[in-house]
Amino acid sequence: MAIDTDLIKAHGAAIKGLGTQITVYFYEYMFSHFPEVRKMFPDTMTTQQERLFNSLVFITSNIDNPSALVPYLERLGEGHLKYNTRPEHYEVVGVSLMKTLEHFLGPAWTPDVSASWSEAYNLAAKVMIEASSRAMDPARFTPLFVNGIPAGV
Ligand code: HEM
Repeated sequence: MAIDTDLIKAHGAAIKGLGTQITVYFYEYMFSHFPEVRKMFPDTMTTQQERLFNSLVFITSNIDNPSALVPYLERLGEGHLKYNTRPEHYEVVGVSLMKTLEHFLGPAWTPDVSASWSEAYNLAAKVMIEASSRAMDPARFTPLFVNGIPAGV
């Protein structure tokens, strides 16, 4: 099934209209249901709520524009290495995001809508995870030289 880009864009506009209450709810949901990730985030979440909100607006409004979206997600995924984000964390974020959308969309959250969002999220997460994995590729390691001499010689 292809991603329903019109639907994701329409919901992106709805997210934009709701403002950061959507990311406030998201983090409250995630921290209460998956308390193990709380320590990864700062004590005060105001800035992060705004950053994630802006990111969701950017991703949803560019869902049909891969030439802007893919490099953005690759940079974001690589940047998440410094937060110790692991592939399994994406499930935690994905579930919390789906629950947040369900909460705000109410009766508009149908099984088809849920399937479309899962598909879009899985693709975004895959691009982020693959970029972080490439950034950690052992092939990028340059053997160590000290004063022009290979280390250990
Ligand atoms: C599609 C999935 C995700 C999106 C769109 C997203 C988006 C963002 C954005 C925009 C930031 C702001 C800083 C930056 O640009 O690097 C950020 C920071 C952060 N994200 Fe994510 N993220 C995602 C997945 C995850 C996952 C799976 C985790 C792990 C639980 C995570 C943990 C964090 C942490 C710990 C920070 C830094 C908070 C801080 O120190 O201020 N993110 N994320």
